[in-house]
Amino acid sequence: MQDELFLTTLQDHARDVETLLGALLSSEPLPGEVARPQRLLAAMRHGVLAGGKRMRPALVIESARLFDGDCDAALRVAASLECVHCYSLIHDDLPAMDDDDLRRGQPTVHKAFDEAAAILAGDSLLTYAFDVLASPDTDLPAAIKMDLVLRLARASGPGGMAGGQALDLEAETKALIETEIRQLQAMKTGALIRFACEAGPVLAGAPDADIERLTHFGRIIGLAFQLRDDVLDLVSDSATLGKAAGKDAARNKGTLPALYGVDWTERTLKDLVDEAHAALAPYGVRAEMLSRLATYVATREK
Ligand code: IPE
Ligand code: IPE
Ligand code: MG
Ligand code: MG
Ligand code: MG
Repeated sequence: MQDELFLTTLQDHARDVETLLGALLSSEPLPGEVARPQRLLAAMRHGVLAGGKRMRPALVIESARLFDGDCDAALRVAASLECVHCYSLIHDDLPAMDDDDLRRGQPTVHKAFDEAAAILAGDSLLTYAFDVLASPDTDLPAAIKMDLVLRLARASGPGGMAGGQALDLEAETKALIETEIRQLQAMKTGALIRFACEAGPVLAGAPDADIERLTHFGRIIGLAFQLRDDVLDLVSDSATLGKAAGKDAARNKGTLPALYGVDWTERTLKDLVDEAHAALAPYGVRAEMLSRLATYVATREK
């Protein structure tokens, strides 16, 4: 697959999910809602629509496509996951957590609005993610929807992303060993990326063996994603990243690049990409886009 085709496909997915997110975050209340406060909606829109690579949506869409899953349903699952991801970023940037002023090249939500607005925008996005999944507009069999709701809840909650964030903050004040760092990363970043990869075969009603294979693929690229994030924090700059650089070392974050250095991390990233490609081998060229996504996750510059 040509680089250009890969990049335009990625852009197409980003555009599709952004169009849907824009419509979902309209100020028009849904049946059962009373009203949508304008400032809250503006804060949510700032946190969701102001840039972002849309990697997780691309993984959902491509993992669904591999198993001939319904495109519209995949797009809604992708939008739901992106709502959880954006909520996690809004809260991650709060003064009580990483205390960052810049995100996706823009002021963070608490800077553009205020802390209360950022907390509530995050709360609302997390809840709304499950609305998007459960809604009748997501045209999937009820049992599959329920499966997705449960998987997303487990990936996001105390045993997933939020739990990982708690461990990440604890790690600022105590030194962690490698296995602890790996667990923290599998939770704070890995869980949502793993969900992105398994959601495709789940929504397509694919056999368990395929769900397990994509879950395995998701675990590998989830780790690669955070390792790359941690390397970029060490070697890149804010102008390139659109967010503060050099923060992990300043805050004493427990990361594998901090423990073993950049060279070790680059070697490990190469091995992870090979492992990810091997996991997709049974699907041959049909998985080319997912395969390219694995490389992209590990080599991206922002
Ligand atoms: C950043 O995620 C936060 C981490 C989990 C490391 P992304 O790098 O996917 O952020 P956006 O969505 O592209 O801004
Ligand atoms: C954030 O990890 C992970 C989540 C938001 C769940 P980081 O704190 O490393 O992400 P950045 O570097 O601020 O994007
Ligand atoms: Mg953080
Ligand atoms: Mg952060
Ligand atoms: Mg980081």
